[in-house]
Amino acid sequence: MVKPKILVARQVFPEVLEHLRQHFDVDDNQADTVLGVDGLQARLADKDGVLSSVADPITAEVIAAAPKLRAVCNFAVGHNNIDLAACTRAGVMATNTPGVLDDTTADLAWALLMSSARRLPAAERWLRAGQWQGWQFIQWLGSDVHHATLGILGMGRIGQALARRALGFDMKVIYHNRSHLPAEKEAACKATWVDKETLLREADFLVLLLPYSPQTHHTIGEKELAQMKPTAHLINVARGGIVDDVALISALRQGRLSGAGIDVFEGEPAFNPGFLELDNVTLTPHIGSSSHNTRLAMAMRAADNLIEALAGRRPPNLLNPDVLR
Ligand code: GLV
Repeated sequence: MVKPKILVARQVFPEVLEHLRQHFDVDDNQADTVLGVDGLQARLADKDGVLSSVADPITAEVIAAAPKLRAVCNFAVGHNNIDLAACTRAGVMATNTPGVLDDTTADLAWALLMSSARRLPAAERWLRAGQWQGWQFIQWLGSDVHHATLGILGMGRIGQALARRALGFDMKVIYHNRSHLPAEKEAACKATWVDKETLLREADFLVLLLPYSPQTHHTIGEKELAQMKPTAHLINVARGGIVDDVALISALRQGRLSGAGIDVFEGEPAFNPGFLELDNVTLTPHIGSSSHNTRLAMAMRAADNLIEALAGRRPPNLLNPDVLR
């Protein structure tokens, strides 16, 4: 039997390719070249399915250039790189990998929060530069995390995992989300729903965990930053574009915000060079889910979605169920 043809758009672990090769004729990209729209159009012309990353633009033009395409399986929970409406119109199933990366991403949010509170990157740069002349009582003072108020904007699975971490630090946890969590979930992470204004006003640490969409573009801009405490820290492990980076840099520069921990940027991998001039930011290159075990679990989940979809079954993480109608 002729195996369906698929593209694995970025480098993955060898065991993922082995798993896929049992089912498919696999075109891989172990050189990890960024394919872009043109490259994807060329490589998908004869493919039935694709395993894609957040950095692969699965646009309407890409889908139009792939007449045989039946499934786009992202190895990510976010899927703003995929034009879902175009997939549905073309009869293409789209999937993501929810669940498997919650704890790892919450861990990174926590690391950025702690790093921002205690000014770790700036203190380390100062030490490495040989500037430490002697211990001083009043030196590198940071903010306390314990007993502070954690504000979470977007309270899905990752938000709840983060709130559970805050329990160990005796924090007060407030969140804002379109819908309230069921009472038992709120109780499990001791989190209280508040309106957005209260969240901005009261949080000592505001962590963003929203998906990106045109509706969430610049959810945190000049106006929202002005509502926050000047002693507060902002953490973004969600997506670039949710924060207006120009407004954030200006607030950090002027001391209207104490610090920030930023894993995702507007226009990444490019980012506003103004960040580099600031000592009160911790910057990481979109590594929220990047542990070996989690990245392997994400790729395997994406592979399993693709296997189900191309076998004509409903994949477990189908994003556009309308396609089945
Ligand atoms: C990573 O950014 C993801 O959405 O999984």
